[in-house]
Amino acid sequence: MKPKITVVGAGNVGAQCAFRLAQRDIASVVLLDVIEGVPQGKALDMSQAGAIDNFEARVAGTNDYGDTHGSDVVVITAGLARKPGMSRDDLISKNAEIMKGVVTNVVKHSPKAILLIVTNPLDVMTYYALRISNFPPNRVLGMAPLLDTARMQYFIAKTLNVSIKDVYAEVMGSHGDLMVPVPRLSTVKGKPITELMSPEQVKSIVDKTTNGGAEIVALLKTGSAYYAPGSAAARMAEAIVMDKKVVINSCCYLDGQFGIKDVCLGVPVRLGKNGIEEIVEIDLSAEEKTALQNAAQAVKKLFPVLPDL
Ligand code: LAC
Repeated sequence: MKPKITVVGAGNVGAQCAFRLAQRDIASVVLLDVIEGVPQGKALDMSQAGAIDNFEARVAGTNDYGDTHGSDVVVITAGLARKPGMSRDDLISKNAEIMKGVVTNVVKHSPKAILLIVTNPLDVMTYYALRISNFPPNRVLGMAPLLDTARMQYFIAKTLNVSIKDVYAEVMGSHGDLMVPVPRLSTVKGKPITELMSPEQVKSIVDKTTNGGAEIVALLKTGSAYYAPGSAAARMAEAIVMDKKVVINSCCYLDGQFGIKDVCLGVPVRLGKNGIEEIVEIDLSAEEKTALQNAAQAVKKLFPVLPDL
């Protein structure tokens, strides 16, 4: 039997994630939303694309958590997206309320699932989902560091006019202003970008990566990015259900790793059937460690806003 993946939230990110999963043909997909008709309609549309794109995966749309029963992975995208001028943190109270309801329902029907959080502010919502679910830390993770890594890869490839496939990027920290892109460990075929471009170009890449989401929000005007975020969530869900053991930068609970405790932050992790199977503790310079610790402090400052912790 194929694994079962539920995507909660049939908005742009959730739908893109569900469709990428269906196209990969690796799982049966349930798309859930509170709005009646939307998940059903989108699921029908995606299923019919199977005849064209040559996939057989089932996609079911629903408003009923009962249909998510026994999911292996639950991707949570539900929540409000940013509007122009709004920071990710402005979203916190509204999305915490939504997250609490979703996680409570999900846990009831899929007590063994791995939760993949996409809702912003990402680092805070991942921590909140971990606490509300009472799941062990290996079974709750957040998506954004893979997205931030992909954006940095794109900016490096564009600056150097090389294939994005030859670029590796290292991005840690929070999905926000205190993101920690690490140029020293970002390479083109093994060569650090610090040796391939001027310090000004490196700085520009770091800035563009950190503002990657905001740049798209400003262009779209009515919402935020969804192609790359949805694809990133699908890739992570795939790594888990297919037990890939691949290292993907993800937001996860730190318990002393990198000298940081009791917060969820972006770091390299090995993903497999147990969710987070290893936190890869790469060596960081003193400056990089400080940047990561500053990110941890900034995320922790938001915890008092979370209800019932
Ligand atoms: C972004 C939003 C999804 O970075 O946080 O595009």
